[in-house]
Amino acid sequence: MKKIEAIVRTSKFEDVKTALKQAGIDFFSYWEASGIGNEQLGEMHHSYRGTVYDTQYISRIFISIVLKDANVIKTIECIEKAAFTGEIGDGMIFSYDIEESVRIRNGARGEASTSGPGDSL
Ligand SMILES: Nc1ncnc2c1ncn2[C@@H]1O[C@H](COP(=O)(O)OP(=O)(O)OP(=O)(O)O)[C@@H](O)[C@H]1O
Ligand SMILES: [Mg+2]
Repeated sequence: MKKIEAIVRTSKFEDVKTALKQAGIDFFSYWEASGIGNEQLGEMHHSYRGTVYDTQYISRIFISIVLKDANVIKTIECIEKAAFTGEIGDGMIFSYDIEESVRIRNGARGEASTSGPGDSL
């Protein structure tokens, strides 16, 4: 199992959610986040669709998804594509190994407890 964390523009979150759902990934946590990107420490102002922004204050959503190994690559590619604008500050995607996962309702452990496309609940 792996965990994918993605930090995306709030303006791209609906696109990311739709793309994930189409890929059968309809289970994840998310919350509003603030952050600083490497470009943002030096030059704080960038234009996006003709408007100049202080990129430190671009609103962002932090997404966290635990997946079976088989679903990791397509999920990363799905987020990458849906969150892309090509402008500075599009965000980042990270992946981590996950040691254990427990589905509280039925006591399932490991990959058997993590959801996947087409799984019946
Ligand atoms: N190395 C990192 N570790 C954790 N969070 C990060 C990292 N880099 C970026 N972030 C998060 O992603 C957000 C957007 O950063 P991003 O890297 O996309 O912007 P940038 O560095 O200004 O531009 P770019 O990398 O596109 O040139 C940051 O506000 C921060 O929340
Ligand atoms: Mg960066």
